[in-house]
Formats: sequence, structure tokens, C-alpha cells
Amino acid sequence: MRKIYIFDTTLRDGEQSPGVNLNTKEKLEIAYQLEKLGVDRIEAGFPAASPGDLAAVNAVARAVKNATVIGLSRSREQDIDAAREALKDAQDPCLHLFLATSPIHRKHKLRMEKEQVLETAERAIRYAKQYFSKIEFSPEDAGRTELDFLCQVTEMAIKAGATVVNIPDTVGYMNPSEFGNIFKTLKNQVPGIEKIQLSAHCHDDLGMATANALAAILNGADQVEGTINGIGERAGNTAIEEIAMALATRSDFFGATTGLNLKEIAKTSRLVSKLTGMVVPGNKAIVGANAFAHESGIHQDGMLKEKTTYEIISPETIGLVDSKLVLGKHSGRAAFREKLIDLGYELSDDAVNAAFAKFKDLADKKKNVSDEDIRAMLEEKLVDTPEVYALEQIEVSYGNKSTPSATLRIRIGDGSVQETRAEGNGSVDAIYNAIDALTAENVELEDYSIKSVTHGKDALGEVHVVLKQDEVSAQGRGLSTDILEASARAYVDALNRLVEKRKTPGRRDKMSLI
Ligand code: KIV
Ligand code: ZN
Repeated sequence: MRKIYIFDTTLRDGEQSPGVNLNTKEKLEIAYQLEKLGVDRIEAGFPAASPGDLAAVNAVARAVKNATVIGLSRSREQDIDAAREALKDAQDPCLHLFLATSPIHRKHKLRMEKEQVLETAERAIRYAKQYFSKIEFSPEDAGRTELDFLCQVTEMAIKAGATVVNIPDTVGYMNPSEFGNIFKTLKNQVPGIEKIQLSAHCHDDLGMATANALAAILNGADQVEGTINGIGERAGNTAIEEIAMALATRSDFFGATTGLNLKEIAKTSRLVSKLTGMVVPGNKAIVGANAFAHESGIHQDGMLKEKTTYEIISPETIGLVDSKLVLGKHSGRAAFREKLIDLGYELSDDAVNAAFAKFKDLADKKKNVSDEDIRAMLEEKLVDTPEVYALEQIEVSYGNKSTPSATLRIRIGDGSVQETRAEGNGSVDAIYNAIDALTAENVELEDYSIKSVTHGKDALGEVHVVLKQDEVSAQGRGLSTDILEASARAYVDALNRLVEKRKTPGRRDKMSLI
């Protein structure tokens, strides 16, 4: 079996998804989970984008021990210097340099001739080589670059000292046979190609990111870049879980393996979805809620007779355990602890006790507490944010013939508790007007979404919001059996994150790659 290296860029390209904004603690939480998943390389961010980004990459570089940590850099000395600073404490650092090579980018974005592109990239790689033994070079928009020029660029990158050459289909324009052909040509025609690794980086604009990356593997790619749940710029990137499962399920065809710990896939997907606020569509391959659900009678009949009739992957392979223990309000601490073990959570005694108290509260409101309820409850606060504002009480009045109003009580940092009543054009609007009045934070609601954690009328509701203040955005999550309370909690959570962000100035909001 050929080993395919997995380069995870959830924290960089994934973070470029609209509305996604991860703080340093959230990046660390994801990086730890990526280590458990067993990815080989973690691209932690773009250090030159801002001092805050540099600090976030540095935090990941210091924390990660079992994967190479990578920082992105334009082909400029000041970017390379920022990446040096960010990666100085990494056990195994790597610099990811890029420069666009396609005719469209050369003409309209860079305003450079081919020769200038070659010179600029070579100068950057040679400069970086003084400080980094591992350098990945990406000819941005390689997919639309003339193939003979791409061969020239690759040859130059190898001679200058790159250890990986990554071929990005930056705009998701390729189809599998064209993309595969690029790798075949590079392998056959570029002198010295055997000294480096070739990598594929695909975007999903035409829904072909995974197919293109697999075509690259079939034609000699050593590494695939991608993100968890396929998040990323525009339509996103190759989904790492799809590559891992395609290679695992069809090893007979691909003859290659990722070496990932497949049982961590479901957990990693949930974590990334929660922390980025990007809901995984029900029909998403591998990690969607319906990926293992069989609805039609014919399929169900087949499944009962022999699972392999309609199931090519068993849910357990990706860590979806089917726990038989049903919990309710009479369940005790021992049963609860057993359930946590079944679901794969390793918690300290204190954490089990705190979770048990929350479980008892929930069991008072719901007859049966499902596995999903328990997961949602445990994962509600994945990252602690200091609570400058805390929701103490909420009362809402709604009638279709009257103006909705909300009375809220909030504890403010110094310990004082304040209460106010506000009206709005709906219950959520009234709640948010009351919170605005109490906190005097001048914010704009950029995004609001709600989903039910399980089925049924008494399901837990999970609300996700994005708030913006002075060009800085922060997301917040709230969980409750009542969607209005969940809405209030999500808003207050986002306010606390905004306050936290104000303390770390310089964390840029969106990457600007020019
Ligand atoms: O899509 C792209 O071209 C990129 C590069 C920075 C590698 O993300
Ligand atoms: Zn990309």
C-alpha cells in the first residue's frame, strides 16, 4: 500500500469559509483533535495576515507534537519572516510558499511576465531555505496554468529547495482526467521530480474536489490537502474524511492508504462543525446525519437480511457507536458514566460530576435523553470563554395580536445583575434588543441559524449566531430545550467572545491573499 500524506488545512483554507472565525483556543482544540485523527501535516494559518494570526499559529506550533505544523506565506520576505517567528517553537515546522502562475493571475493580479514569476518564486524559496528545511511551494491556480510552464515552475522550485510541490486547482475548474494528467506529466517530464513529494489541493466549485484529488493519487500524488467536512473558500476544499474512506473502502482499486485513525472521523467532524458554526448537510458523504440511514422499505429489508446489501461502510468504522443504554431521569451516575465511556468520552471525575448535574437538569425536561443530546450537552462549551455577561433569567411574551416583548436579567462582569424589558418585531428580536440595552454593546447580527439536535417535540435546539462589531466578528452557540433561551444564550456567548477578541487586538477578520 502506498502511503498518502494528509495535509489538513481546516485552520487556514477552512477558516476562509464565509462567516467562520476561529479564535486561538478554538484553533488549538481543533489541532489537538487533528492530532488524534492522525493527520500528517496541519496548516495552522497565515502568520503575516496579522499579529493575532501569528500568535494563533505560534500557539498551535507549540502545542502539536505529532504532526508537521505549517504556516502559509506569500512569496515575500516579510511574510516568510512572520512565518519564521510563528513557527519557531514547532517540533517539525514547514513553510508553505505560494505564487500564482496562471495566465489570468499573471496578467490581472500580479501584472508579471512568466520570467518575473519564476524569479520571484525562486528568490522566495532560496530566502526561506536559509531558515526552513521543509518548504512546500504552490503555484496558485496551477489548474489553469500552461502545462509546459507548470513543468518549468516545478523544476525551478525543486532546484531552489522545495521539498513538496503542491498543485492547487484554486478555482475548482478541473475535471479528474485533466487534473490526473497534470500529475502524470510532472512525474514524467520534470527532472528531479523523484526528490520531492507532489501534492494535490482541490476546490469544490464544480463538485469535483474529491474526485480530482483521487485522480491525482492515481497519477502519482504523494499528498492530499483538504479540510474536515470539506469546508473552505467558496464551495470548499476536498473533504479529508472522503479521501480517507475512499482509500480505505476501495483499497483494492487505489492500493493506497492514509494511515488516519478512522474512528476519530465522526468526532472530528462534529468538533469542526460546532466550532466553525458550519452545519454538516444531512446528505454529506461519510459524516452527514443520513449517511448511514436507510429509509426505503426495500433497503431496510436488505439491511436486515445482510448489511452489505446496502452498506459499504459500517458506521462504527468512523467512530459512530451505537450505545444500547437508554438514559432517563431515573438513571444514576454509574449508568451515566457507562454511557460516556460507550460514547468515547474520557472525562475526569470532576467533569463527569458537572456533566451529570447538567444531564439531570435535561432529564427533568425530556423523557428520554438520547446519545445526541448527551453529545450536544458535553460539547456545548468546547472552549471556555470568560463570561463577562451571563444570562440569569429570561421571560418572553408573544401573541399574534400583540407586540412581542422580552424581559431579561443579565449578570455583568463586576457582579451586578441588571434587568430590562424590550419589544421587537418577533420574540428573538425582542430578546436581542433587551440584551443590547443591558450590555450597551453596539453589534450587528450577521448570521442566525437554528437546528434541532434530535427528532421529536422536546428536542434540544442549538442556535448559532455571528455578531459583528467594528469589523470584528465573533460567533456564539446556545443550547436549550427552548429555542428562545438557546437564542439568548448564543447571543450572549458571541458577546463574550467579542469582548475576548478586543483583548487580543490584531486578530484579523479575514485573510487577504493578494
Ligand atoms: O487554493 C489555493 O490556491 C490555495 C493556495 C494558497 C495553496 O489555497
Ligand atoms: Zn485553497
